[in-house]
Amino acid sequence: MCGIVGYIGKDNSLPILIEGLRKLEYRGYDSAGVAVHNGSDVIIKRKEGKVSALEDELRKEPLSGMTGIGHTRWATHGRPSEINAHPHRADDIVLVHNGIIENYLELKSELEAHGHTFSSETDTEVITRLVAEKLKAHPDLFSAVKSALKRVKGSYAIAVFRESDPSSLIAARKGSPLILGIGQGEQYIASDIPAILWRTREVKYLEDGDVALLTEKGITIYDENDKITERKTTIINWDPVMAEKGGYRHFMLKEIHEQPRALTDTLGPRIKEMGEEIYLEDLNLSPEKVRSIKKIFIVSCGTSWHAALVGKFLIEGLARVPVEVDIASEFRYRNPIIEKGDLVIAVSQSGETADTFAAVREAKQKGATTITVCNVVASSIARETDGVIYTHAGPEIGVASTKAFTTQMGALYLLALHLSAERSVLSSQDYARHITGLKHLPALVEETLQTEKLIEDIAREYSKFRDFLFLGRGINYPIALEGALKLKEISYIHAEGYPVGEMKHGPIALIDENMPVVVLAPSDDLYDKVLAGVEEVKARDGRVIAIVSEGDKDIVQRADHSIVIPKADKCLNPFLLSIPLQFLAYHVAVHLGTDVDQPRNLAKSVTVE
Ligand code: AGP
Repeated sequence: MCGIVGYIGKDNSLPILIEGLRKLEYRGYDSAGVAVHNGSDVIIKRKEGKVSALEDELRKEPLSGMTGIGHTRWATHGRPSEINAHPHRADDIVLVHNGIIENYLELKSELEAHGHTFSSETDTEVITRLVAEKLKAHPDLFSAVKSALKRVKGSYAIAVFRESDPSSLIAARKGSPLILGIGQGEQYIASDIPAILWRTREVKYLEDGDVALLTEKGITIYDENDKITERKTTIINWDPVMAEKGGYRHFMLKEIHEQPRALTDTLGPRIKEMGEEIYLEDLNLSPEKVRSIKKIFIVSCGTSWHAALVGKFLIEGLARVPVEVDIASEFRYRNPIIEKGDLVIAVSQSGETADTFAAVREAKQKGATTITVCNVVASSIARETDGVIYTHAGPEIGVASTKAFTTQMGALYLLALHLSAERSVLSSQDYARHITGLKHLPALVEETLQTEKLIEDIAREYSKFRDFLFLGRGINYPIALEGALKLKEISYIHAEGYPVGEMKHGPIALIDENMPVVVLAPSDDLYDKVLAGVEEVKARDGRVIAIVSEGDKDIVQRADHSIVIPKADKCLNPFLLSIPLQFLAYHVAVHLGTDVDQPRNLAKSVTVE
């Protein structure tokens, strides 16, 4: 995710752009930039770091002008740097972009063949140069933008204008949010409401395929069929704080609801149109290397360790490579037996966790090949390893990880399929079935988000209990651990995750009416074993909150509460089961009044041992 802001009107655009970018920093903050037309030229200022670093730069050389665009970046292609920061320029076009262009390499080589020389590593420069190229054959910027966007596959929200004509701004969106703000003799473009709420409460939400022409006088919007369309004007009555959370009460709740988009951004660009291959652009593992791997270790902490445990099931199940999963702080001190050529995978949302970083160093010292699954481009751990699979969840502000977790599992699923294909393990039919499942996953997650109201009611009833047990089996056991951690870390209630089969070896002694048990019971090959576990709990007056698949007939009869998720392939259940557990932890914590986004004693990234 990145933040875009644009202004055209009579005021000096710079302070409007800077304030707007500051309000959008929750969407990305690794670099920022502005382009302002000062009446004769366009001046571009870009800076690595937060918007404040750009502001310091601008204080040295103040800018002023009417038309302008700005951008605060969350890197997806190309590390955080001034050269990769937006706005990008080609001829007299300046452009900012939020989204992921899936076919940017193909477009880039076409443009290079037409004599374009690229200065950045970004997919955004590709769009900028494509518009400039189209302008050679089109009468105006608007038609050049329309023509260029017809070639683009993937998601975009852009703002663009010409040095030779600052009297208009163009905005366009597909798959990434973009709104227009309506003023008196001035108009705005923004990724989200907070950027412009302090200037206007009248907004229009662009829809996929829309291209808008903004001048001081007004706004004209053309839909994907080039027909002029009105798009309803909405009056926003949020307060600024609420606006930054997209109208949600907490960042954590917003990020739970962002998971369909986060999974689409993480999976989509890597699954080729026909699904015949997985494309992991920064993996840096040759086919020979992939085929020679004898053992994989995955090292991580906390929620990322839970994603790693699911990764073990996926990689061993689909690629038949042995996987050992270690808590990073244990791995680094147990003198692990690593053979040359073993692969060590670090899973880390922040890419800065000290224990995971140290575990990677230990692995490298022992000759392992190393890769990272990470949500922050060019973070310390990502730079330390031979290859990376970036998740595209966007900044995760809530300390309790949600969208980063599900996208980590998505990235590990992609890796498992990639390893399987290179080692010819799965039949093409099974491989295609998994690809189809992954393509459908964001929609299934969207459907599962509908369970929130029921879970809010359950949370209200169960927030009085002081101990919880979470049970799962097989690939869902790590999700039981994750559900327990989510509840612990934001509501401060004691909770444990356990394999269902372990109940009879001790934990069942805990069961009575004061120990609610959350059971993950999707319809899969272990369902009957889980059913037995539910019977054990009910026979001892335990309260059971079951998460079951649509169409369940047995456990729903026995559980005190049943939360129904879509019926799905076994490998997709961990994603779907995570959603109700995130909601349960969230709503219990809200009911108890804890600080959901910044729970006590916790930090978003543990950069110390
Ligand atoms: C998860 O909700 C916690 N915030 C915590 O366990 C976290 O997953 C852990 O500290 C690892 O962080 P990382 O993914 O940034 O390495």
